[in-house]
Amino acid sequence: MDPVLLQLGRRNLGDQDGRLELHRADLTDPNWTNLLAGRSIDAVLTTMALHWLTADQLVRLYRQLADLLPEGALFLNGDHMAYAVAEPTLQRLAMTMKAEREKVFSRDGKEDYQQWWTALEQVSATLPEPERRPFQERRRVLGERRIDTRRAGYTMHLTALRDAGFAEAGQIWGYFENRVLMAVR
Ligand SMILES: C[S@@+](CC[C@H](N)C(=O)[O-])C[C@H]1O[C@@H](n2cnc3c(N)ncnc32)[C@H](O)[C@@H]1O
Repeated sequence: MDPVLLQLGRRNLGDQDGRLELHRADLTDPNWTNLLAGRSIDAVLTTMALHWLTADQLVRLYRQLADLLPEGALFLNGDHMAYAVAEPTLQRLAMTMKAEREKVFSRDGKEDYQQWWTALEQVSATLPEPERRPFQERRRVLGERRIDTRRAGYTMHLTALRDAGFAEAGQIWGYFENRVLMAVR
């Protein structure tokens, strides 16, 4: 949905000789699947995006994906998926490890999420007007955005996938709350 990331994608990847199309969609819009216009889907891959969705939006999205995907097809989600409130020790450990990792990153001089965006914003100021528009649009969209801090945790993802009709679902990689979850339709 992010206009700046879509612009970066178009500039860096082009259309891969007609094999790649980028579309803008809001996954919380119940009608987003209309843009697929009846095309068949072989697999779904998402990274670092679904943590923006509330539990009810996630339940609806997983039901939509279960309707779109044929039996045996894969769904892969790499994202933060939190421990449950009833697992305070694991939550604390995850927070400690995250803070430790951030210290190492900053000691090694690596950019964090915010620094990356700040640097990109600075570059955008030097671009011609049409290429600055996605940055203006992004600021407008983010300004309107209200974040629900009660995000869906890991067990919620698993339950929602199974409820939607996925036959199998589980973590295939993880570092505390950063996980890759795979489900088979
Ligand atoms: C941290 S970026 C991750 C971008 C990319 N997937 C990656 O892993 O590098 C989060 C992405 O989630 C997208 N996103 C958040 N909420 C969304 C929604 N409701 N519908 C569609 N995309 C959404 C944002 O537009 C943004 O592209």
